[in-house]
Amino acid sequence: MLNPSRVPMSSPLFENVRKIIAEVEASAPKDAEELEVFRIRFLGTKNIVKPLFAEMRNVESTDRKAYGLLLNEAKTIAESTYKKFETELQAIQHTTGPDYDLTAPAFPAKLGSRHPISIVMNQIIQIFQRIGFDVVENREIEDEWHNFTALNTPEDHPARDMTDTYYLKYDLTRMLRSQTSTVQVHEMENRQPPIRIISPGRVYRNETVSARAHCQFHQVEGLYVDENVSFADMKQVLYYFAQQLYGDDVKIRLRPSFFPFTEPSAEVDVYWGLNSDADYRMTKGTGWLEILGCGMVDPNVLQMCGIDPDRYTGFAFGMGIERQAMRKYKIEDIRMLFENDVRFLKQFTAAF
Ligand code: DAH
Repeated sequence: MLNPSRVPMSSPLFENVRKIIAEVEASAPKDAEELEVFRIRFLGTKNIVKPLFAEMRNVESTDRKAYGLLLNEAKTIAESTYKKFETELQAIQHTTGPDYDLTAPAFPAKLGSRHPISIVMNQIIQIFQRIGFDVVENREIEDEWHNFTALNTPEDHPARDMTDTYYLKYDLTRMLRSQTSTVQVHEMENRQPPIRIISPGRVYRNETVSARAHCQFHQVEGLYVDENVSFADMKQVLYYFAQQLYGDDVKIRLRPSFFPFTEPSAEVDVYWGLNSDADYRMTKGTGWLEILGCGMVDPNVLQMCGIDPDRYTGFAFGMGIERQAMRKYKIEDIRMLFENDVRFLKQFTAAF
């Protein structure tokens, strides 16, 4: 501290410095913003002490040293006061304000995992994308035309019954789609061949929920229409698919079947084996598992959708995703796929 007795009190220049010192000592910035105002006023590049150094030449030579000392004193007081407030404010912030310790380890984050249905669905999508099928989606609330009529389903077909299909309460011409085959109709109505698509999505049926059936499930539909598309093409595409999903050495067989929208129609089985009790249960004692329905698109369907059946042919197929997932992961009750029990779901990890 400067000894005031040595400082000539009379000079107004000295008085100016003393006023600044008094102001510094009386300041009490309450927050970071006020502290910054303080810093700019007393320590910034245009601080109010600076110009007083230039007054040195107007001070009597005998008093110059004292003047210089007083100015330095002002500067030092401003600096130490600033530091003091800065530390105090930091301490306050530490106890009351947000306290972010960026070096602290993060909480162990619980990573979610993909749902088994998504895993299998993505796998199927990728297999068909590799051979040039595009993914398209369409609506879940349908009209009779897209869900039944354009798919060649007769008026008196049992699937049209309310005991099989969910109709909307206030509009009995609309329903929750019962199959993704509806997307075939939308696609063919909207564009001309070549058409090569798959369509994943949810479907709804008025089923009693049990270990093997659910009123809501997922399907993937496929459609390929062009000139000269043959049954042999279909067989080869589905064989490729089965190899990709079940392994290169997979064995498949096609069994004749019936669907209103394909002629001829078939069901595809893959050979599963018959070694354990589980194999026996899964394959109903045959060793074979049915994986999908398929067939050549009925010329009637092409016609109804605006495609010339004399010029174009096509094949279509459809499969349930839950079935594939249950097989793949040996899930014995379909309801587990819809209960969202984390203990069940966290068992599935996949890069897909
Ligand atoms: N829509 C049929 C079902 O729900 C599955 C199906 C069978 C789709 C044959 C097709 C097909 O496109 O050609 O069971």
